[in-house]
Amino acid sequence: PASPPAVQTCQDFIHCLISGGGGFPSNLIYAPSNPNYSTILESTIRDARFNSTSTPKPSLILTPISTSQIQAAVLCSRRHDFHIRIRSGGHDYEGLSYSYSSHQQTPFPPFAVLDLASFRNVTVNRAEKTAWVQSGAVLGELYYRIAKRSPHLAFPAGVTNTVGVGGHFSGGGFGFLVRKFGLAADNVIDCRGRILDRASMGQDFFWAIRGGGGNTFGIAVAWKIRLVTVPSTVTVFSVVRTIEQNGLDIANKWQSVSSKLPKELSLDLLLTTTNRTKNRATIKIAIFSALFLGKTDKLLNLMQSKFPELGLTGEDCKEMTWLESVVFHGGFPSNATVEALLDRSKNSPLVWTLKYKCKSDFVRGDPIPESALLKMWEKLMEIEPEFGGILMFPWGGEMEEISEFRIPFPHRGGNLYMIQHMAYWSDEGERHVGWLRELYDLAGDYVSREPRSAYVNYRDLDIGMNGEEEEGYERARVWGEKYFGKNFERLVRVKTAVDPENLFRNEQSVPPLPRGI
Ligand code: FDA
Repeated sequence: PASPPAVQTCQDFIHCLISGGGGFPSNLIYAPSNPNYSTILESTIRDARFNSTSTPKPSLILTPISTSQIQAAVLCSRRHDFHIRIRSGGHDYEGLSYSYSSHQQTPFPPFAVLDLASFRNVTVNRAEKTAWVQSGAVLGELYYRIAKRSPHLAFPAGVTNTVGVGGHFSGGGFGFLVRKFGLAADNVIDCRGRILDRASMGQDFFWAIRGGGGNTFGIAVAWKIRLVTVPSTVTVFSVVRTIEQNGLDIANKWQSVSSKLPKELSLDLLLTTTNRTKNRATIKIAIFSALFLGKTDKLLNLMQSKFPELGLTGEDCKEMTWLESVVFHGGFPSNATVEALLDRSKNSPLVWTLKYKCKSDFVRGDPIPESALLKMWEKLMEIEPEFGGILMFPWGGEMEEISEFRIPFPHRGGNLYMIQHMAYWSDEGERHVGWLRELYDLAGDYVSREPRSAYVNYRDLDIGMNGEEEEGYERARVWGEKYFGKNFERLVRVKTAVDPENLFRNEQSVPPLPRGI
């Protein structure tokens, strides 16, 4: 094949888009000189860490409204070796859908963001219990459209309404229905890219796109999903326990109980701190939040027999529809209606105004010893006056039954729960990142090892990054086996077959093997 020209300019790429590649309208291309560039770029930047003057910015933002325009963008990207990054909902924890990692080479190569925000149709087939959802739709829209067609239908995916379908499904996707129905990606039954669908992409390719990570195997435009059935009334609660209220013992017991509860109950635990007490003193609190697919009386009986230590009462519980439960757990004000889920621009105030970093872990086999749990909880006191948390999400249930090889997401049987270590802050500097790494170190002896597993949708560049092409495979294996376990090898084989030129790539995309290997 002819080598690409030595110097590729943005102008070549634009020219290709507009006239050479297939009619990409110029009014859908935004350069930094365009007065709307910043508004569009910032529209789905969810982490203030990646919205500073030093954040690498795209040379262009493309906002296609048809699949042929997406196709044109890919064609011109390949022809001019002009890098594109795909963005659906913009929640990437390292900002990789609209920026480069600051650790990457400097100066970073120019790139364009392909923003799929206009691809947001949701079509529900009630009789078939399926739906087609486009990648630029957000979870709130998806849930709303499904439940409005039938209050008995739902979909098992993430908790926050503004998370984009495109990135979320590409990495797995879990929420309060995971113990009953598995991940979002477990329930994907077809996918349309810019050219292919499930039948034409073949088994391996279709396997890889359901959890093998975004911006790696191509551009997913729309997903066909299997909907699940939920009762018309579900029960939720969110109760707080302090250390004085026996919070440590209860949290400790939670570790061994939560993954063994019936699948109909997901009970997560957030260890954090608060200074909202009368004398403004900071105290440690444990917040237990749950969704139960049934009514209060049954839940109370269940909790009485399996987890009486929590001391749950009828007053703690609220009955509602499944859709209302999404609002309840979504961090909205208490008077918010289900229509709030449609608002793509709103989210928990934390996410809008603060910077944050998260890291993930899986606890397998034995729970964390109580003394170590307390140490980790104590550590959270150091980050005040900002916010730190250890969010623990129970596994078990359906996750115990699905094979680690069914899709690329391998963290299944034997895991008690997943941890998300979190730091949120507003001031300048990186000291909170260092603090979070120390918290992560504290957990190191008690979580999965060799490799220390992580969840690709909680992207964390600390665990490794791609480097030069020659060392691609060996370097990627470091982070790749943490995200994908033994599935990493198969992902590399699929990547080598479907994108040998590595057109779709980022700092943590599975690399192809060099030609001839
Ligand atoms: P974004 O657009 O940033 O994409 C993420 C990655 O996928 C990028 O690499 C991007 O290039 C690629 N990509 C995007 N669209 C693509 C497409 N159409 N085809 C191919 N590649 C594509 N997770 C979870 O499991 N449960 C939860 O409850 C939550 N909650 C949550 C809350 C908040 C506030 C945040 C910030 C994140 C979460 N997450 C989560 C993590 C979330 O699942 C993860 O960040 C997803 O990748 C986000 O998908 P977006 O489309 O929003 O991100």
